[in-house]
Amino acid sequence: MRPLQIALTKGRLEDSTISLFERMGINCDAVRQKGRKLILPIGDGSVEVVLAKAADVITYVNHGVCDLGVVGKDTILEAGGSFYELLDLGFGKCRFALAGPVGRDFFAGYHTKTIASKYPNVARSYFEGKSMNVRIIKIEGSVELAPLLGLSDAIVDIVETGTTLKENGLAVIDSICPVSARLIANSASLKLQKAKIESLVSRMERAKEEQA
Ligand code: PRP
Repeated sequence: MRPLQIALTKGRLEDSTISLFERMGINCDAVRQKGRKLILPIGDGSVEVVLAKAADVITYVNHGVCDLGVVGKDTILEAGGSFYELLDLGFGKCRFALAGPVGRDFFAGYHTKTIASKYPNVARSYFEGKSMNVRIIKIEGSVELAPLLGLSDAIVDIVETGTTLKENGLAVIDSICPVSARLIANSASLKLQKAKIESLVSRMERAKEEQA
């Protein structure tokens, strides 16, 4: 039988997921010593870890080539897709926020505001909810630069400690929603690999609760 494949978002979410698996008693030495390998067996080899970028985790699960995925709610809200969200893993916690230069009233004046974001869909739906017409510009990273350079009035971004905003003279104007890592599943896999997935998910849930 083919192994269950779980796509992990490379970096911090990968590390937290591997720690969770280790607390479940699953040997993850192959991942700990991975080098540049991207598909690695864990435990007895009945589960394989696939290391990918956040948006690609969703693509692989959406297309059914990976059964499960671990990805931030930020990427889920931005990318959407037809998969199931099985578990809030409780790590990778941060929040989406609207932020702008300290001391400037974002809502003052009637001109159409410009918003920079790595998450244009999240930004669009936030402003639609406020019935506010804005111009959105997609930025790939360090979005805090956009208001500093005069490209935008504000940003929609994830805030964790708030240090990046503070050190760049920006502050939260409004909190949009909390973000954390989620376990997602392909819908066909949920049927075809039901027993295997259910057993892994309930063990993950238990290990998460023991840690809390
Ligand atoms: C994220 C986010 C902020 C920063 C927030 O960026 O886009 O820039 O972290 O964290 P803080 O509130 O703890 O300061 P990331 O590190 O992912 O880099 P990027 O902007 O270059 O993508």
